[in-house]
Amino acid sequence: MTYSRIVGTGSYLPEKVLSNDDLAQMVDTSDQWIRERTGIHKRHIAAEGETTCDLAEKAARNAIEASGKSISDIDLIVVATTTPDQVFPSTACLLQSRLDIHGCAAFDVQAVCTGFVYALAVADNFIRAGSARCALVVGAETFSRILNWEDRGTCILFGDGAGAVVIEQSETPGILSTHLHADGDYANLLHVPDGVSKGYDKVRQNAAFVEMKGNEVFKMAVNTLGRIVDETLDKNGMQKSDVDWLIPHQANIRIIQATARKLRMSMDQVVVTVHDHGNTSAASVPLALDVAVRDGRIKRGETLLMEAFGGGFTWGSVLVRY
Ligand code: ACO
Repeated sequence: MTYSRIVGTGSYLPEKVLSNDDLAQMVDTSDQWIRERTGIHKRHIAAEGETTCDLAEKAARNAIEASGKSISDIDLIVVATTTPDQVFPSTACLLQSRLDIHGCAAFDVQAVCTGFVYALAVADNFIRAGSARCALVVGAETFSRILNWEDRGTCILFGDGAGAVVIEQSETPGILSTHLHADGDYANLLHVPDGVSKGYDKVRQNAAFVEMKGNEVFKMAVNTLGRIVDETLDKNGMQKSDVDWLIPHQANIRIIQATARKLRMSMDQVVVTVHDHGNTSAASVPLALDVAVRDGRIKRGETLLMEAFGGGFTWGSVLVRY
């Protein structure tokens, strides 16, 4: 049986840090409120002119270096992003050119905060089908560009960053299973109302930025992530105790804690970066993975459960024997 295995991870965060106290100078909020309700202490923000592809390139080079593969081994590039540099070419094509790779398939996937999980599932399917041997999968966002910096309900939550993995065809597992879902009926709870085809409202200019009914999104996220954990374990005939590490989407520490409780997992087995990075959307899961691989927490042979929930709504999981 053919599997894909994660052979390298990488990440990158922009230099500029925005603290909760900085935000309290911009909107009516406080460090205490943000910490208590979200767990976030700070987030990184891309510099002017620094694009999603800039962040993606740095994360990708880190992941390729860690994998021991050479750039010429890469035969598929999938980038998950909600904030592409341009309408087209895709950020994946821009990244391909930066890396001096030519000819292989390269495309973007858009599933907002579930983007990396979607992208990894797509690349895994390419590899298992024999259509690729070595894929670069990136989650990268400059989410700060689509935030309304006058809306305290959203601007405190998000940050910029990128994470990447290199996955390779292998006879040993590997990615054990992937689970993707969506329900477009919930679009209005979390969305950017305007867009290229629909047009941009000249009167209500904020329609080009993220709008969210935070409370409703919170409840949906907790319920949905609980269900996807059960679905993933059932599919693999595993018990909750078989999972060594939970690598959740980093939206809010309270959502992460609720999912860990559902898994009866100690928070010591949960990778948490939300305090340092905020919600980096599609970059969140690969960033957290890379942090825990590089600090030595995650070891070869361990079982990892990655899960995410985002606009759409979209949600999904990936179970990995690392
Ligand atoms: N500072 C101070 N007060 C605030 C702030 C703030 N930044 N934001 C809201 N408040 C106020 C509200 O106005 C409200 O005041 P009121 O009672 O006078 O009306 C009060 O705090 C409580 O507001 P709630 O929205 O009920 O607060 P809640 O505890 O739900 O926390 C939060 C809000 C943090 C947004 C939470 O609902 C949440 O995390 N939701 C999930 C969001 C999420 O995960 N989104 C990303 C999904 S992933 C993706 O695809 C992008």
